Amino acid sequence: MWVNEDIMNQSGLLTVEEVAQMLKVTRQTVSKYINSEKINAIKINKSYRVSIDDFENFLKENSTVQEPTLSHLYRTKYCSLEYEGKSVEKEVLDESLHGEFRNLNAAEKQTDNMFIFGDNYAVLKKLLESHKGLIDLIYIDPPFGTGQDFNSIDEDSAYSDKLVNNEFLEFLRKRLFLLRELLSNEGSIYLHIDKKIGHYVKIIMDEVFGYQNFINDITRIKCNPKNFARNAYGNYSDMILYYAKNRDKQIWNDIKEPMTDDKRRQLFPKKHPEHGYYTTNPIHAPGVTRNGDTGMEWQGISPPPGRHWRYSRAVLDELNNQGLIEWSNTGNPRKIVLAKDHKGFKIQDVWEFKDKGLSYVDYPTQKNNKLLDRIIQNSSRNDSVVLDCFSGSGSTLLAANKHGRKWIGVDNSTKSLEVITRTFNNKNIDFNMYEYVPLN
Ligand SMILES: C[S@@+](CC[C@H](N)C(=O)[O-])C[C@H]1O[C@@H](n2cnc3c(N)ncnc32)[C@H](O)[C@@H]1O
Repeated sequence: MWVNEDIMNQSGLLTVEEVAQMLKVTRQTVSKYINSEKINAIKINKSYRVSIDDFENFLKENSTVQEPTLSHLYRTKYCSLEYEGKSVEKEVLDESLHGEFRNLNAAEKQTDNMFIFGDNYAVLKKLLESHKGLIDLIYIDPPFGTGQDFNSIDEDSAYSDKLVNNEFLEFLRKRLFLLRELLSNEGSIYLHIDKKIGHYVKIIMDEVFGYQNFINDITRIKCNPKNFARNAYGNYSDMILYYAKNRDKQIWNDIKEPMTDDKRRQLFPKKHPEHGYYTTNPIHAPGVTRNGDTGMEWQGISPPPGRHWRYSRAVLDELNNQGLIEWSNTGNPRKIVLAKDHKGFKIQDVWEFKDKGLSYVDYPTQKNNKLLDRIIQNSSRNDSVVLDCFSGSGSTLLAANKHGRKWIGVDNSTKSLEVITRTFNNKNIDFNMYEYVPLN
């Protein structure tokens, strides 16, 4: 079924008409559902609204009135990805596995930080028993469905990336459902993927997290420019898809990009004897103030025609007294803006964090620490739990630890287990190491 564009409102709240249209029932039937509390609804200005989450809960609980792809279509904005072997979300969530985490340390350590060795599907299911809705930040860098094996520099096998196409997408999709359930209401997820499969993964992410919760598709410059022999543009970037559990409620620290020396030279070229590097800005702005203070003469001069002072005359006096007005030889005043007061730049959606070559890392596909620093600093708080269920070398866990966050790592590669044990022990970082053991 195709969902009408009109019913896709950005607020995440559906009207009774919209719900009726999607369920192919009358308004009255929806009202009955609301009155009998089958559908949870909130009253706004005398009429009812249904949140997407509540609508989906209703669909889950009443599968007989549900077209199988209805909620997917709603979440993905008009389309969903169909492929062979696609499972039903409810079945993934309802599937119960029996297993336990067995501590691989001699004794349990007094820390919340843990690494769990095992297949992440089973591990995430188990974690849902203790951590549902408690994870503030997830970063994952799964295999990319390349069909290759990845070895470390010493030729040790690290992991195999043999699942391709629909099998890979389904492998990921099932885990994403579980990850969504683990996320807190203010949580977010960053998924790192390459550009061959990433666009398919975007549609899967929309389906799992909701189109309205998509925040950014970040282009990551991963290496130096490539000199391809084949007839193609060099590919030196991959992508990170960033989604919130609930858009605009996600933890967002608005970390700024510090100014580089080059930028400083470009933007603040002058040097003040007292205040350091600076530039100047006009103290007037377009628009005329008829009788107000900012239209009056200041220091014997009026604002230029069609303009007004940007600041009140009291503020201009204050700035002048502090030596923060520069007067030109012709008597034109400009405000001095200091480089040291610059707050840094808004981070954009192209990031350059190149990975090191195989001979400089402990694990193939090991990601740049600074990339993870940025994600953790921006999207988690001191008390947050950070999860990476494709941990590899443990780069996410190390970054989380460095910033004082709690962390949970999962991987099923013995090489990962070995590298994480060695790295964390060398750095004297305490954590519990478990193995997932299935129970029959
Ligand atoms: C691309 S690597 C991650 C690299 C990591 N981001 C780093 O910086 O070192 C993908 C990881 O996913 C792990 N992995 C693949 N399938 C898994 C599964 N079903 N359960 C747990 N880990 C899995 C692999 O062993 C591998 O370590």
